[in-house]
Amino acid sequence: MPRDTEALPEKIRALKKEKNALIVAHNYQIDAVQEIADVVGDSFALSKYCATASQDIIVFCGVHFMAESAKILSPRKTVLLPERTAGCPMADMVTAADVQELKRRHPRAAVVCYINTSAAVKAECDICCTSSNAVKVIQSLKEEEIIFVPDKNLGSYIAAQVPEKKMIIWEGFCVTHHRVTVEEVIRVREAHPDALVLVHPECRPEVVALADFVGSTKQIIDFATASAEKKFIIGTEMGVLYRLKKDNPEKTFYLLSPGLICPNMKKTTLKSVYNALTQMQYPIEVAEEILIKARSALERMLQVT
Ligand code: 13P
Ligand code: SF4
Repeated sequence: MPRDTEALPEKIRALKKEKNALIVAHNYQIDAVQEIADVVGDSFALSKYCATASQDIIVFCGVHFMAESAKILSPRKTVLLPERTAGCPMADMVTAADVQELKRRHPRAAVVCYINTSAAVKAECDICCTSSNAVKVIQSLKEEEIIFVPDKNLGSYIAAQVPEKKMIIWEGFCVTHHRVTVEEVIRVREAHPDALVLVHPECRPEVVALADFVGSTKQIIDFATASAEKKFIIGTEMGVLYRLKKDNPEKTFYLLSPGLICPNMKKTTLKSVYNALTQMQYPIEVAEEILIKARSALERMLQVT
């Protein structure tokens, strides 16, 4: 480990070249990690990018299900998750056995899982979705009944957009986004009446109902960047503020709630990325029979969108 942490970005760049590695980072990563990454994006953009990347090694700065999805789509590549314990509490709220039981109870339903799930859960599903393509994915299905796991808030958002489908929604939620309350929206709107409210669909339906725009992290960044408006209240994890402020220095951004921090996304540091590259840690492994089934759910999603 270099003694001078200021030298880390340089060392990481050199190692990346030497090892033919790709560094990807989710929009919620800390500023320094976003800065060192080759690509920064939302779950959908990153999974698509990794599927076609030419590098042999992918260092995935994000949480476990994201790195695992990259591995499923590129099984021959080495996919590293720099922080072993960076997980997603929402992904842990549903198991493969839970999905099997849902399928037994609703045999005619199509089974859709949010990308925020384990490989074992994906393996039980027909198709995957992310927050940026969920509505399109559901609309693409011929079945009228849809089992959706694990996010009840994203599930409610989809149900409102696609009322012709009968949604059977699991009761999971994101601890970070679910924390945002209607009272907070009202308070922040009162403080900044000329600002637009942009929220992630993982927020509660009552919060989503008060928003001016609902979308994935990338869609929120793109919306604010393209908008002629100058002030925005951001209802997703605070990591997106880095890109928003960098790309829009003339605009003002307010975080909807101080609770919008995902501790798992904040575990990865430049040191973790450096250690990942020097020690090849921590490689993602997925059992062959699970990988094949989970890949079919992810690939079907990539075909729709
Ligand atoms: P995005 O797909 O919008 O990046 O969201 C991922 C996530 O974990 C949101 O909490
Ligand atoms: Fe999971 Fe929520 Fe963190 Fe996204 S913000 S990784 S859904 S806990």
